[in-house]
Amino acid sequence: MSDNISLAKAYEKYFKIGAAISPADLVCHANVLKKHFSSITPENQMKYAGLRPVENRWTFTDADLIVNFARENGMEVRAHAPVWHGGTRPWVFEDADGNEASRELLLERMETQTQVVAGRYGERVQHWDVVNEAIEDHGDAVLRDTKWLKIIGPEYLATAFKLAKKYAPKVQLFYNDYNEWLPEKRDKICKLLKMLQDEGAPVEGFGMQSHMSIYNVDIDDVKRAIEAYAAFGLRLHVTELDVSLFRPEDVSMPPTLLTDEMFERQAQLYIDLFKVYRDYSDVVDSVTTWGVADDITWLYNFPVRAGRRNYPLMFYHDHTPKPFIREIIEAAL
Ligand code: GLA
Repeated sequence: MSDNISLAKAYEKYFKIGAAISPADLVCHANVLKKHFSSITPENQMKYAGLRPVENRWTFTDADLIVNFARENGMEVRAHAPVWHGGTRPWVFEDADGNEASRELLLERMETQTQVVAGRYGERVQHWDVVNEAIEDHGDAVLRDTKWLKIIGPEYLATAFKLAKKYAPKVQLFYNDYNEWLPEKRDKICKLLKMLQDEGAPVEGFGMQSHMSIYNVDIDDVKRAIEAYAAFGLRLHVTELDVSLFRPEDVSMPPTLLTDEMFERQAQLYIDLFKVYRDYSDVVDSVTTWGVADDITWLYNFPVRAGRRNYPLMFYHDHTPKPFIREIIEAAL
């Protein structure tokens, strides 16, 4: 009965269903995107390196293609990740002589970037992951040691949000991070959110990346994390969901043998997660997977850069829905 029903339509009353894509997906995944998704995230095309690989050359073509596709198909757009430790070419942090940029120069670049991107997309995107992954994973330090932190100081975070609000007042602004359901990381993220709010940063949402494995998710942790973030009065988006079949620390190549049980665990985890997202749909507005189907996923090159196959998404290589989608759809009808 549900075979012909769109995932996005079935979930209309709960939240948007999104996919993070590159222009390649517009060619090979256009049909599945149009049928099942209601939100799009450009995966790299709005990062500094995507929009401005060198200081004096702006490259809007790929971001434009994605934003236009979304608009033509009535989808929302989540702009993604300018202020991040990755996705930034060295020139951003250097002066004309190749020395480390001064604080003033880096702040000026942050402002120019925000102004230009907001000027072009501020009326066409609805949400923006303004700062990505600013948390230190190890030890007691809360903030990751990045060039943004080193050159500007911890105010770089609030400044990024204030500039985004100034130039893109209609866009809802997010802080975005990974492993957010794990208690230790959750507590650090809460410290960061508190710091941002105390400094008057106009952060309006938290993006729960949700790069998961069939082995590292306790569904009660997911609920507790949602409650902790919602307590800040923020809107919540799941921004980068995928479910690896390997343990996070498994870097074996040739890969660990896959079994039916691993696919069953994956199906159950997706079903359980969607139940949690429905149960918390008063605060969860959007659920995005990082990719569309198993034929294109960043997990072919992470954590091993060796083209190891993985099958983390909700659609098979041939773009047909995995069987558990039927259950996820029926639960929403
Ligand atoms: C992180 C970033 C994304 C992307 C993915 C993997 O989670 O937020 O922008 O780079 O990793 O590709």
